[in-house]
Amino acid sequence: MPKNESEITIEIGNLPGISARSDALKSYTGEDGEVATPVPGGKLHRCIAVSFCLLCILQAALNISLRLALSFQQNSLTEEREELKRQLNDYASQQNSLTRERDELKRKLNDFANYAQQGWVYFSDSFYYISSIKKTWQGSRDDCLHRGADLIIINSKEEQVFTRQFEKIMWIGLTDRETEARWEWVDRTLLTTSFWYPGEPNNYIGRNEDCVETWYYNDDNSWNDVVCENQNFWICEKKMAL
Ligand code: BGC
Ligand code: CA
Repeated sequence: MPKNESEITIEIGNLPGISARSDALKSYTGEDGEVATPVPGGKLHRCIAVSFCLLCILQAALNISLRLALSFQQNSLTEEREELKRQLNDYASQQNSLTRERDELKRKLNDFANYAQQGWVYFSDSFYYISSIKKTWQGSRDDCLHRGADLIIINSKEEQVFTRQFEKIMWIGLTDRETEARWEWVDRTLLTTSFWYPGEPNNYIGRNEDCVETWYYNDDNSWNDVVCENQNFWICEKKMAL
């Protein structure tokens, strides 16, 4: 008997052809209906796309690292160049000062050779010239000035001992010509350490003794004031430190 229309059920799964399509659909969606891996060609495309992306990322990373490395290298090269520049400047200024020093030493050596050749004696940073003729105090001083020196200024015990070894009465660069009893050296400095013979200076018997000589050269204290117009040997001094 025919059933009521609403009661008619069809066993679709049992219909021929429908069953095969249903199996195929099952294999595509899975039992729970989620989309599964598509056909094998699609998988390859996806693989290529992922690899390409990875390659891009790798390239970008490589680029960044190369740039960083390059910039580090550039920085260190710049620093090295600045350091080398500084060193070069140092060497240049060192060379300049050495050249100046060398020229100065050459000039000194030349001066030393000249003074020694002309019979000057070197002692404690000065050259000394002892005359072989006699002149007044001013005549003697002029001679020293012409030789690029001046009459001796004695400012140490050693220098005083040095003058006595020549055993000569010589003018020294000390006078009170400008102001009586105000003893002044030729460089205008005032007398501090003195080597007067006992009783000197004395303006002997009322004479105007304004210039100083090494009258008592046998004595430690050898100085005597005497009239400047007297004729004496003299001793010049030229300061010349090494
Ligand atoms: C005196 C000196 C003086 C000199 C003059 C000496 O006998 O002791 O003080 O200056 O004569 O020539
Ligand atoms: Ca005297």
